[in-house]
Amino acid sequence: PQHIDGDIEKVLLTEADIQGRLAELAADIERDYEGKDVLLVGVLKGAVMVMADLSRHLSRHVEIDWMAISSYGSGTRSSGVVRILKDLDTDITDRHVVVVEDIIDTGLTLSWLVSNLQSRGPASVEICTMLRKPEAAKTPVGVKYVGFDIPSSFVVGYGLDFAEKYRNLRVVATLAPHMYS
Ligand code: PRP
Ligand code: MN
Ligand code: MG
Repeated sequence: PQHIDGDIEKVLLTEADIQGRLAELAADIERDYEGKDVLLVGVLKGAVMVMADLSRHLSRHVEIDWMAISSYGSGTRSSGVVRILKDLDTDITDRHVVVVEDIIDTGLTLSWLVSNLQSRGPASVEICTMLRKPEAAKTPVGVKYVGFDIPSSFVVGYGLDFAEKYRNLRVVATLAPHMYS
């Protein structure tokens, strides 16, 4: 076990849970995009682990590109106002795009991103997220591939951070209360 496991309150998803579900999602994607070229677009930084593992569960070629975006607004919560810190290197005109995310919380990040990508004239844009919280239901963003619906508690690991830490945890977990104070 990793040393940082000591900071964890409860493991929500084990490595086996995560990898098993990603294999299923990869199979769904292969079936849905049979005969088509797919571009996976990861959202830095949280999606790094999902991208690495999901893409390696695919048995066919895909292209991979990344965007870095930043929500800004009054609070620490995502405001829905987003700026691009790093844009795609790829021209997505007429491309089949699958956006890869670690989590949809409010849904504001992805609803902005999907409409931004749609404006570039792709053949299609779909979303694949490892985790989805209940609040996401309030935002009208269609998500085709969901790994797990989870409760609204604060989770870390497998790409998800608390103040930039815990991204390298191999599991998805809630933080021990003493880590917050
Ligand atoms: C997190 C997460 C999603 C987004 C979800 O990213 O990785 O990208 O928030 O929140 P939302 O649905 O409420 O918009 P964050 O902005 O923390 O950046 P990071 O990926 O670099 O951690
Ligand atoms: Mn993110
Ligand atoms: Mg974050």
